[in-house]
Amino acid sequence: MRRAFYGLEVLRGVDFSVAAGRITGLIGPNGAGKTTLFNVVSGLVPPDAGSIRFAGSEIGGLSPDKVSRAGLVRTFQVARGFPKLSVFQHLMLYGRDQPGESLWRAVLGSRAARDREAALAEQAWDIARFLRLDKVIDNQAVALSGGQKKLLEIGRALMAEPKLILLDEPTAGVNPTLRNEIGERLLELPKRGVSILLIEHDMGFIAELCDPVICMAEGRVLAQGSFDSVRADPQVREAYLGRRAA
Ligand SMILES: Nc1ncnc2c1ncn2[C@@H]1O[C@H](COP(=O)(O)OP(=O)(O)O)[C@@H](O)[C@H]1O
Ligand SMILES: [Mg+2]
Repeated sequence: MRRAFYGLEVLRGVDFSVAAGRITGLIGPNGAGKTTLFNVVSGLVPPDAGSIRFAGSEIGGLSPDKVSRAGLVRTFQVARGFPKLSVFQHLMLYGRDQPGESLWRAVLGSRAARDREAALAEQAWDIARFLRLDKVIDNQAVALSGGQKKLLEIGRALMAEPKLILLDEPTAGVNPTLRNEIGERLLELPKRGVSILLIEHDMGFIAELCDPVICMAEGRVLAQGSFDSVRADPQVREAYLGRRAA
């Protein structure tokens, strides 16, 4: 897949697959194009060329909404704003077929909308319990700790009932205890039918969670395989030399 900005090629033929039922790590030096890849795959930025296949269909160039409906959801490296809503309201807002959407209400009437809302509320509670956010479910999201905000961001993604989630640095700025907790939660997801593609600069975190690991540099795949094999790869070592891992 290819993508350039103002004539500068950021993605230069990056090509790989992500297996269902796994946590795949995506690493590479700062500026390698990892976040851009997420932007293209999630529909935020169209590819210039190439193909993105998900669950048997071409999704390249689809809108973020269509990609998310297909079962592929992403989170952001820098957490977006949390409007003045409770944790519960936040989760509800990201539900699939939210009855608040006018089309739903118009087509199905208020009874069906109420039923859907009840089902979503149950799902929101399930996800809150799973992420250990149930004790703070009525708190304002803005008042959560940094780590809890990261968990809520994962919760929002899960509300869309994804098959694959793209996580961009889910532990950035989080203390080690919470980092481990986030890791434990993520390890549970493949068992619940959710696969993960994870960008992370913390190599300990990658080593604990991810198999396989893919290393990108300059818009291409440099190496892929087990964490140890990728770490030992001379090209990977060279790509990281003198740069900050990102
Ligand atoms: N919207 C954009 N406009 C211009 N340049 C961009 C844009 N998005 C990313 N880039 C450039 O693409 C390169 C790769 O960035 P990024 O995908 O964020 O790398 P990574 O996440 O691996 O650190 C950087 O040089 C960045 O400046
Ligand atoms: Mg990035």
